[in-house]
Amino acid sequence: MNEQELCCARMSKKICAAKQILAIESSCDETAAAVVADGRRLLSSAVASQIDAHQRFGGVVPEIASRMHTEAIALVVTQAMEEADIDYSDLDAVAVTAAPGLIGALLVGLNFAKGLCMATGLPLVPVHHLRAHVAANYLTYPDLEPPFIALIASGGHSHIVRVSDYTHFQVLALTRDDAAGEAMDKIARALGLPYPGGLHMDRAATGDRGAYKFPRPRLSGDTLDFSFSGLKTAGLNLLNNCKQKGVTVNTQDFCASYRESVCAYLADHAMAAAEKYSANEPLVLAGGVCANSRLREMMTERCTAAGIELFLPELALCGDNGAMIGAQGYYEFLAGNIAGLDCNARASSGI
Ligand code: KG4
Ligand code: ZN
Repeated sequence: MNEQELCCARMSKKICAAKQILAIESSCDETAAAVVADGRRLLSSAVASQIDAHQRFGGVVPEIASRMHTEAIALVVTQAMEEADIDYSDLDAVAVTAAPGLIGALLVGLNFAKGLCMATGLPLVPVHHLRAHVAANYLTYPDLEPPFIALIASGGHSHIVRVSDYTHFQVLALTRDDAAGEAMDKIARALGLPYPGGLHMDRAATGDRGAYKFPRPRLSGDTLDFSFSGLKTAGLNLLNNCKQKGVTVNTQDFCASYRESVCAYLADHAMAAAEKYSANEPLVLAGGVCANSRLREMMTERCTAAGIELFLPELALCGDNGAMIGAQGYYEFLAGNIAGLDCNARASSGI
């Protein structure tokens, strides 16, 4: 048997010389693990979602999230390793979300990853959660490579970044207050829709997009930064006024109108950033809010009209998952971004 045959015989799912990374994510309300080869090939993915537990509170309760991560993590990691059908000795590194996120939740994943590294001698690769949302696209589009512009819209963040290479991100714009996801979640909650609000608002938005009017957020100066708090307050005020006056709110119309305002705002800034900062580079969408059907439709129309190549993350990879941590973890590993066991989690952190 030659060297290649030997190698392939030893590892059924491992391509010879591939770098295989076990990735762990626990920054918010999903305990997730995945095994990813060369940052591009998903060998397994396991997720324990906490949505049901948080639903009755209308949002994520940090204490409950931490406790549930602790209960689920060993099982989820074992499941990912079994699905990938590999041993720890076949791995090259353990990647884990170290920032940003709920601190107690992050610490569960990070400490578990540290334990694995201590036991196996594998290197520990800390991964920035927002970088990983962008990297989710590498799993779907094998030809996608930096440089490109990315719109990252999630429950806690709204950024526009230029990704000059896999581990260099320049922030072009960010939110000054609430994130896009938060602005949708709060209004959805006020409308009595279940958590996560953005998703349920999207589903309920079957009405007239022009039925309700919301102010267009504006910041002074030459900036592409976002501010969602005014839009959110306008939505809440409108609902309160209707309630006080005994006027029935048409949920379908309200969701369609509000979603339109949020999506148009995100799309306008993303298109302006592409025009201002890139020379015919592609636009990449990332984060939970980029599962929004109207945002995807709007961005597709606008990018087609402007001749800009658009990459939309797979719906299954828009929200938090382990696969995206493995994709970004691979490039961090190649760049030598390896941490010691004294690595700490951070609730907030620049990208
Ligand atoms: O990226 P993600 O899963 O977690 C964070 O890193 O925050 O994003 C969660 C956010 C929530 O605000 C949720 O309401 C929103 O993504 N979301 C959506 C949709 N699906 C999830 N927002 C709008 N439309 C959707 N279809
Ligand atoms: Zn996320």
